[in-house]
Amino acid sequence: MSADQQPVSSAFLADPQFSFPQTRRWKTWELGRERLFERLLGEFRDRPVRFLEIGSFEGASAVWMLRNILTHPDARLTCVDNDKLGCGKRLESNLAASGLSAKATIHWIDSHDVRKHVPDDHFDFVYVDGSHAAANVLFDVVNAHLICRPGGIVGCDDYLFELPEDGSVPKPAIDAFLKLQGDRVEVIHSGYQLWFRKRAGVSAGGGGSGPS
Ligand SMILES: C[S@@+](CC[C@H](N)C(=O)[O-])C[C@H]1O[C@@H](n2cnc3c(N)ncnc32)[C@H](O)[C@@H]1O
Repeated sequence: MSADQQPVSSAFLADPQFSFPQTRRWKTWELGRERLFERLLGEFRDRPVRFLEIGSFEGASAVWMLRNILTHPDARLTCVDNDKLGCGKRLESNLAASGLSAKATIHWIDSHDVRKHVPDDHFDFVYVDGSHAAANVLFDVVNAHLICRPGGIVGCDDYLFELPEDGSVPKPAIDAFLKLQGDRVEVIHSGYQLWFRKRAGVSAGGGGSGPS
């Protein structure tokens, strides 16, 4: 049995705030992040909202959102991951172990294909946590903005991540996006993560007039 096929630990099943130390290779989730998510996503609790996560890895953020925010019976989470890190089996097992997998759909695709699978102006929240190479981050944040409904929120992890992937880091990409969008987005948190709200009245087309 490979590591990815091992069942989750009983500690994970018992811990109400999601801890699965036996199966985690990376520390992707901690108290500070939890507090940030509680503060910024609190408005969606007990509502029939739709969330999308780009980059789910072993499911730490996904299960936390399912347990703590997506509490309405009709709330749903869509996960997009290309399984680059080979953790697909762990994500599936951890979602199953959470008892909430019926509320989640996983698309095993590259984020470049996300708009083939989900409609624009659709999600209440999009969490961008896939590739950390600048060009991919730019692509993901542009698409996240398009598939987020006006008034919804986009959260970008690792805005200040300093370890280059393919020679680049996320911050310049997110800054370029923010500069291009101007006041069409409202930055609601800027720290290690960067979160913004897509202003109401801005639809997928960007709200501009086309060529005459
Ligand atoms: C940092 S981990 C996500 C951590 C997770 N959100 C959490 O907090 O527990 C990044 C994930 O993004 C996935 N990924 C990387 N590049 C991707 C791409 N271009 N498209 C889709 N998924 C990608 C990887 O397979 C990995 O599972």
